[in-house]
Amino acid sequence: MGEPDSASTTPVIVRMDQRQLDELALIVGSRNLYTIPEEKLTFATDGTDVIHLPAVVVEPDHPEAIQELLRFANRELIPVTPRGAGSGLSGGALAIRGGILLSMLKFDRILEIDPVNLTATLEPGVINCHLQDAVAEQGLFFPADPASRDASTLGGNVAEDAGGSRCYKYGTTRNYILALDVVLPDGSLQRLGVTTRKGVVGYDLKDLLIGSEGTLGVITSLVVRLLPLPAYRRLVLAMYDDFTRAITGTGALTARGIIPSALEFMDETCIELTRKELPLKLPPEVKALLLVELDGSDREQIDRELEQVAVILEEQGALEVLLADSSERQEQLWDVRRAMSTTIKEKSAIKKSMDVAVPVSRMEEYLQTTRALQERFAVRVLHYGHLADGNVHTNVIHMTGGAAAQLEVEAAVRAVLVETLAVGGTISGEHGIGTVKQPYIAMEIPPRLLELQKAIKRLFDPNDILNPGKIFV
Ligand code: MLT
Ligand code: ZN
Repeated sequence: MGEPDSASTTPVIVRMDQRQLDELALIVGSRNLYTIPEEKLTFATDGTDVIHLPAVVVEPDHPEAIQELLRFANRELIPVTPRGAGSGLSGGALAIRGGILLSMLKFDRILEIDPVNLTATLEPGVINCHLQDAVAEQGLFFPADPASRDASTLGGNVAEDAGGSRCYKYGTTRNYILALDVVLPDGSLQRLGVTTRKGVVGYDLKDLLIGSEGTLGVITSLVVRLLPLPAYRRLVLAMYDDFTRAITGTGALTARGIIPSALEFMDETCIELTRKELPLKLPPEVKALLLVELDGSDREQIDRELEQVAVILEEQGALEVLLADSSERQEQLWDVRRAMSTTIKEKSAIKKSMDVAVPVSRMEEYLQTTRALQERFAVRVLHYGHLADGNVHTNVIHMTGGAAAQLEVEAAVRAVLVETLAVGGTISGEHGIGTVKQPYIAMEIPPRLLELQKAIKRLFDPNDILNPGKIFV
């Protein structure tokens, strides 16, 4: 049995003895097992920057090794934490109880792209943008596009049901997953879902696995749904002297039946913090930005719609609407947006990032009340994100830090979540609960439903070996 390093009940950090390490080396192959601290450190943190050193890191390269590993872990009661690229923002891939860190990075092959069935079969360690690029070469499109697309893996995207900028038009990762091959905690390898577009036989366990944060099974391969690639993609940047007009503009677009492939918002604090990174000089009166992207296969139609977008946004109070007139300019703007989280992190001493989603009709109210928290707490509150689908990244930041500031930030975070729920929103739209949002889950999920969810976890994993200590407190 794994040896706890302390007699206390929480948290138990499981170490492993030489016999266990030797057995594990036989299962995964000794070249796929790392015990040296420097080697393990690469796998010890994620987007939260919190460090948890596992007892051992393994990087198996075939599903049978994962099956055997989970049987071994069950027998020895050693926690197993599955991990993709470690870009998650909720602590889901952290080995908080020690034990085995299971890196899936060697499962990195795209096995098949099928243009007739419009599917691709791939392993979970494939990086999101590699899949997007590979299918694009065949005129196909995988729409799920988190900001971490250059780093995050499909396995991680499924575990968190990653969202990103295209969800208003295309939905989240979940909408593109047809089937998953999964090793359950008991070591059995199961196919969940079907590869046809329709399938209603029994409970949908595939959908249960999606977004379960690596707590119910380890994905070893995926069948994803593809679309024809939209040949054209155009982007405009709209500038505002008042953020409320950006929201009215967004509402007016939807009311007129325009479905942007992306519609991203940045408030004045974001502009202030990324001014140097922006590829154009903004007039000082600009206090909010919208990035509106349209895609499709009919160039003339896209151009016509784009003109309509510009007219509508100007009617609704935009100071100026600029077309990104080259693909380089589009990419520059997207780079600034995708790097927003990192840029803010570099420029502030404390940053707590949220991924709440609120009904679009209550967005203005939500932004107003959460901005007003700056008057109640000694913090700055900023907003950017996926405005069209209501998923905003409210960040509570402090520029200098310190213990008192930490307390203020934490109190403000809780107040933001209270406001989120008050307008009918959810405390996590795309990053998951992991460890970061555990203190808040009961604010949203009632006790009976929490108990049901925990019972499901026990049914899958009675010994609580797979990613223990995540989601539920
Ligand atoms: C994003 O949209 O940039 C990501 O979800 C990360 C974040 O900013 O929190
Ligand atoms: Zn996001």
